Amino acid sequence: MDRDPSFYTERTIASWDEAAPIHRQINSDLVAKVASPAFNALEPDFDTLVSEFDLQGKSVVQVCCNNGKDLLSIGKKGAGRCLGIDGSRLFIEQARELASAAGHPQMEFACCDIYQLPERYRGSFDFAVITVGVLNWMPDLCRFIQICASLLKPGGRLLMEEIHPVLNMYEEGEPSHIAQSYFDRRPYRDDGGLDYFTGRKYQARENYYFQHTLSDILTAAISTDLALCSFRELGKNVGNYCADLERTECVPPMAFVASWQKSS
Ligand SMILES: C[S@@+](CC[C@H](N)C(=O)[O-])C[C@H]1O[C@@H](n2cnc3c(N)ncnc32)[C@H](O)[C@@H]1O
Repeated sequence: MDRDPSFYTERTIASWDEAAPIHRQINSDLVAKVASPAFNALEPDFDTLVSEFDLQGKSVVQVCCNNGKDLLSIGKKGAGRCLGIDGSRLFIEQARELASAAGHPQMEFACCDIYQLPERYRGSFDFAVITVGVLNWMPDLCRFIQICASLLKPGGRLLMEEIHPVLNMYEEGEPSHIAQSYFDRRPYRDDGGLDYFTGRKYQARENYYFQHTLSDILTAAISTDLALCSFRELGKNVGNYCADLERTECVPPMAFVASWQKSS
């Protein structure tokens, strides 16, 4: 990486702000849906992982929470203090609106670049949660995982569902196909927009994403005080990227769910 990480994160966050009104319009039914006590936006495999833990009254932080729908789902399972952190001011506004509509106005949301996270949140949470579509925005993966671990109390858990790094090798198409090296570490610049719901391209502000290998992810966690507790690879479309691959004969690893525990 030839530039300071903030060069990338500032531009990426601005492109998420630009995408926020588009996502809001596409998901306009969410405001009504979150009002249901049964609302649960968690992808089923991540829901299963979350269900293995007793969340009652526990404090939960979601890093890069976007519009907060996943955190809200966890709040509805009985969690106590819930904090969502995201760099996009406009997505944080949507998260506050959804929390109110859901009858959880006490949920907290903080708008900041995760690399600039204020000290006051450190060591406060029983659970830290990361759901699909976060790691690829991080120019410095080790520091990112360190920050996530620092949010946890001793013995706290990091729960993650992410796109599998192997999927980063693929380009969308009919069929989706391998187009780049698994080990390509160059920042990837994109200005085709962030409408991953309909796949529509628009002339957008530039954003930058990064490929991290599975060993990058696992060693980033080892280098903090996080011990791997579970790890499961999935041949399922969880991020609406190269979705056709889950129906092919030779299904690649497409996602994973994992949990870590911080030392006590
Ligand atoms: C794909 S979305 C996550 C979606 C989430 N899994 C969900 O389903 O709601 C990625 C989020 O990461 C946020 N993000 C990207 N880079 C960030 C950074 N450096 N600091 C804080 N948030 C960041 C974006 O604003 C965006 O909301």
